[in-house]
Amino acid sequence: MKAGDGSAGAKRRAAEAAAEAVEDGTVVGLGTGSTTAYAIEAIGRAVADGLDVRGVATSRQSAALARDAGIPVTTLSAVEGIDLAIDGADQVANGDLIKGGGAAHTREKLIDAAADRFLVVVDDSKLADRLDWPVPVAVLPDAEGVVADRIRELGGEPTLRPAERKDGPVVTDDGHLVLDCDFGELDDPAGLAAQLSAIPGVVEHGLFVGLADATYVGRDDGVDVIE
Ligand code: A5P
Repeated sequence: MKAGDGSAGAKRRAAEAAAEAVEDGTVVGLGTGSTTAYAIEAIGRAVADGLDVRGVATSRQSAALARDAGIPVTTLSAVEGIDLAIDGADQVANGDLIKGGGAAHTREKLIDAAADRFLVVVDDSKLADRLDWPVPVAVLPDAEGVVADRIRELGGEPTLRPAERKDGPVVTDDGHLVLDCDFGELDDPAGLAAQLSAIPGVVEHGLFVGLADATYVGRDDGVDVIE
């Protein structure tokens, strides 16, 4: 399930502005999705011009894009830390995010949270006053039913994400299923995040509360940076 459908130009502007924050000699977390792909391309061009960076990918997709762009790719366990992460979002409100439209939010949260600085890149269609996008919840395959019951007890409506061009559900890069959980408008994202994290069988959810350091918002005529 993908949110927003902003213009490619707005996505590109946000991503390229954030990519300028990448410094020589650093480790960069590479997010997943169509907006971050522009940042990966921009970092790749900088590498071709002599920038020395290593990338830690958040998905098979971002690893492949990074390799194509000429960015040396390493792993989280092989580095001492991540200096900067750049990642997209499905919805942004008051600096909090819903992610996981591409089912990559488990590794995304791991790497974005590990980074000294986490920059979000979105087009302006992703901005909202309050979060209300269905929250992706990655679950152990055997836990789908019991987690769905607990989500309903919390007031959510879970839908098992179906695959495209494959019969059955989406299976993530790490072998999990995804429940898209509609809670309507979120009054307390931090509280819901804690409740979701406490459900046995939940691997990770797509609520990113208090993690972002800055949001680069691409518009048709420029970029706003919200710190
Ligand atoms: C991947 O699972 C997601 O968290 C993406 O980062 C998010 O869906 C944003 O993707 P787009 O930039 O393609 O909208």
